Amino acid sequence: MEFTSLGATGLQVSVAGLGCGGNSRLGQSTGSTVAESISIIHQALDLGVNFFDTAEVYGTEKILGTALHKVPRDSVIISTKCRIPEPRNLHSASQIVASLERSLRNLQTDFVDVFHLHAVQRRDYEYVCDELVPALLREREKGKFSHLGITETPPNDPKHLMLTHAFEDECWEVVMVGFHMMHQNARDSVFARTLKKNIGTLIMFAVRSIFSDSAYLSSTVEKLVADGKLAEKYNHSTNPFDFLLKEGGATSIIDAAYRYVRHEPGANVVLFGSGNPAHVETNVKSILKPPLSQMALERIGEDMSHLEDIGLDLPRNR
Ligand SMILES: NC(=O)c1ccc[n+]([C@@H]2O[C@H](COP(=O)([O-])OP(=O)(O)OC[C@H]3O[C@@H](n4cnc5c(N)ncnc54)[C@H](OP(=O)(O)O)[C@@H]3O)[C@@H](O)[C@H]2O)c1
Repeated sequence: MEFTSLGATGLQVSVAGLGCGGNSRLGQSTGSTVAESISIIHQALDLGVNFFDTAEVYGTEKILGTALHKVPRDSVIISTKCRIPEPRNLHSASQIVASLERSLRNLQTDFVDVFHLHAVQRRDYEYVCDELVPALLREREKGKFSHLGITETPPNDPKHLMLTHAFEDECWEVVMVGFHMMHQNARDSVFARTLKKNIGTLIMFAVRSIFSDSAYLSSTVEKLVADGKLAEKYNHSTNPFDFLLKEGGATSIIDAAYRYVRHEPGANVVLFGSGNPAHVETNVKSILKPPLSQMALERIGEDMSHLEDIGLDLPRNR
């Protein structure tokens, strides 16, 4: 495993982080037993992963807590989150603190390393700062978590408006952002700022559905070509991303997608979610491989850097 600094937190994090949410939720969305999900976590540990991201709404905190119960607490980094549910029914500070307490109980730990406000939209940001952050900082003083983070909601905020606003404030030590080969706009609006301010970054959506579901990728590419947003050449192949294998040195599009994100300057931890042991193994291997070839990177840049808001929806929303 390779390790890197998570911004200025002082945490040394594995560059591959196990996401316990996403489509798979450790396999809980696809019929895995709790024991099978626990074994996914143990497999990740064996592969050297020390970063684990979950959230109260994923329903996987208890599974993660059970899996990590006998592991020395200082050998793993636990990140969890609390949502502020509805626009007209925002959680109060005391509800957020209660959620943090529940997370600690679920995770069987006295503190989490990173506690995030989850999927915050731009319209709610002032409320978050004025009402929730002061209460959370008091909890941090008590040692219930070590670093404060915030995550965006890519389907609702493809231009990263919430995060770009959040960079005006000094309280955020870690941010979670959506970034992939066909949605590269975080390079200028997010990574340029996190690098300058030494804020830790957790990357989501590297693969998600767009690169794991070939029918979804094909229909997306077809539409982009029809709309004049992608060159005609992408329509002329059964595999529009063949060049990643032929010229890029990748073994699959998923391999290419993880390597692309991993080597982006400013990306600290690449989150990958899976309920499938074979996928866990190949994904960690991919994240540890060298960058794609220069030729492939140039082509992804030239042909796709103007794209945004591609492949951010869930399969059920297609
Ligand atoms: N707003 C937020 O805060 C937010 C939102 C979304 C996600 N997240 C975080 O980011 C993490 C990652 O989520 P994500 O949305 O980026 O998606 P993801 O869960 O990483 O999606 C990957 C998808 O591809 C499949 N897959 C993975 N490896 C594969 C392989 N080698 N071959 C074939 N299929 C493969 C997985 O299914 P299998 O089970 O079959 O492997 C899964 O359906 C989450 O777990 C969560 O921690 C945070």
